[in-house]
Amino acid sequence: MLVNAKEMLDKAYENGYAIGHFNTNNLEWTKAILKAAEEKNTAVIIAASEGAIKYMGGFEVVANLVKNMHDAMEITVPVAIHLDHGSYEGAKSAIAAGFTSVMFDGSSFPLEENLEKTREIVELAHSKNISVEGEVGGIGGEEDGVTSAGELADVNECKELAACGIDFLAAGIGNIHGVYPADWQGLNFERLNEISEAVNMPIVLHGGTGIPDDQIKKAISLGVSKINVNTECQLAFAEATRKYIEEGKDQKGKGFDPRKLLADGTSAIVSKVEEKIDMFGSENSAK
Ligand code: 13P
Repeated sequence: MLVNAKEMLDKAYENGYAIGHFNTNNLEWTKAILKAAEEKNTAVIIAASEGAIKYMGGFEVVANLVKNMHDAMEITVPVAIHLDHGSYEGAKSAIAAGFTSVMFDGSSFPLEENLEKTREIVELAHSKNISVEGEVGGIGGEEDGVTSAGELADVNECKELAACGIDFLAAGIGNIHGVYPADWQGLNFERLNEISEAVNMPIVLHGGTGIPDDQIKKAISLGVSKINVNTECQLAFAEATRKYIEEGKDQKGKGFDPRKLLADGTSAIVSKVEEKIDMFGSENSAK
């Protein structure tokens, strides 16, 4: 059975590690993330953005893919299926389709509207035992057509959003989606610390790709309990698949069979997810 993300994140928050949130794109991705989590004996969050959900065929397809794959692989660690950067309508659709966790990203709305809509989503989600992530202060970069300059979240706004009943909070602290530019200033730990002291709840770090180990560890020590990774898995998959083709393996025997063609890329995702789980410190935390 899939679970919501509240308990696993509260446990991570209390014990000083972070749970990995890994975005899925298809069946191979889903399998790879589940395999890595089971091998590392850690809870995991499988996430899908609305763009990926549309690509895969809709909310129910994704919820059922994760549920059925979880059961078929006889996964024993806690797994949540989470909507990433959900719109107001998207969050409602995910709740109806059987997602166990949703992010309502109202960060592009005026604060009052974000608070009001977040409260509504919290009420609906909690009535079905589904956890909710809220966001204030945009995360920089671009994801599925949503761009943001990556401002630092305002501490009072974080407090107000936390009071809406959310289970974990995404707050901009200089993090950006995608690969970090060479002149990136790093995470703003001063702001993270202020937010953390003000809200006293698990904090979510978006844009996990390429954040150096020491910054990840410091962020976790200041209350970050969920770290989102997407681009790094895509890069690992693309690199391994390119290598397979450049070595002409798709032209030897039945190397063009998609089960063979995608195998190296899929293994690369497993390795990347395992590497991140080690970095986040959640290995062997499941039992
Ligand atoms: P990256 O693509 O930078 O890893 O960010 C992922 C993310 O934050 C998903 O919400």
